[in-house]
Amino acid sequence: PRVEYLNYEVLDDHGWHADDDDLFEKAAGAGLDDVDYGSFHVYPRESVLEAAERNDFAWPFACRGGACANCAVVVLSGALTTRVDHVLPDEIVDRGFQLACNGIPTSDELQLLYNVKHMAELEELLL
Ligand code: FES
Repeated sequence: PRVEYLNYEVLDDHGWHADDDDLFEKAAGAGLDDVDYGSFHVYPRESVLEAAERNDFAWPFACRGGACANCAVVVLSGALTTRVDHVLPDEIVDRGFQLACNGIPTSDELQLLYNVKHMAELEELLL
């Protein structure tokens, strides 16, 4: 599977919002650094976080075990399944939040926002 990623923290700088329909088109045309926008492949049985790290990206994490949500991403297209998730309530998962530390792609193409731990929905949950 191929993951196209975008750093949530650059959205504000550009006046973009997570629910913009053309968010990834705008990101692709904005000349962002590889750290903030790009794509990589995920090997079979590899988690999205592991694939990011194999590509030398330092995405946030802490427990690596589905208990802290530091590694949370928002899946905007495609699908991810988590083997262990002790932290995200169903209503948050329904809004697209997933855990990268043990999230395995179940679609060939995914678009996701990483670094979303400061999104309001998640911050409220983690307080
Ligand atoms: Fe803690 Fe993923 S790193 S839930």
